[in-house]
Amino acid sequence: IRTAILISGGGSNMVRLAESMTGDHPARPVLVVSNRPDAGGLLKARDMGIDTAIVDHKDFADREAFETKLHETLLAANPDVICLAGFMRVLNGSFVQKWQGRMLNIHPSLLPKYKGLHTHQRAIEAGDTEAGVTVHMVTPALDDGPILGQARVPVLASDTPDDLAARVLKAEHALYPAVFRRFVEQLN
Ligand code: GRF
Repeated sequence: IRTAILISGGGSNMVRLAESMTGDHPARPVLVVSNRPDAGGLLKARDMGIDTAIVDHKDFADREAFETKLHETLLAANPDVICLAGFMRVLNGSFVQKWQGRMLNIHPSLLPKYKGLHTHQRAIEAGDTEAGVTVHMVTPALDDGPILGQARVPVLASDTPDDLAARVLKAEHALYPAVFRRFVEQLN
């Protein structure tokens, strides 16, 4: 199962996903795409021998043009599944519909709580004693699709948003590969 992974930054989730796709795993990474030319994850992908592409949203007049190029770039690699992994662009419904049912995202909160940004700060400010991460199917509504898996972590009284982010990120690295494997194994 040909898998494309979309990133915007360090790509630590992409690395864990790519590392998990070995042996009898039904999927293989065929392309890593970043909307940011300076994303550290591009170097990591290249070190892993995975093809990379850059579709820089700043090169396009509007979101439609960006998503058209992104779609063409993806089609060229002919993926069966797309994983958003630290991808920080909101995708229009018109783009999502082309891949719906085959596109997953990881979001650093226990959805449906804290859709959008600054999830750790919001959990701390709300006085939550628990936080976590969600892997879900991507649908046109932001951070809203069917949930495939979640992992919970404690929020400590001493936590800064960065402390919590680091704890959640470790949970992401375990959750995404596990949920992704279950997802591709049920694809037929
Ligand atoms: C992290 O904040 C993570 O919670 C979210 O995207 C950000 C970067 O992740 N999923 P990565 O290291 O680029 O995978």
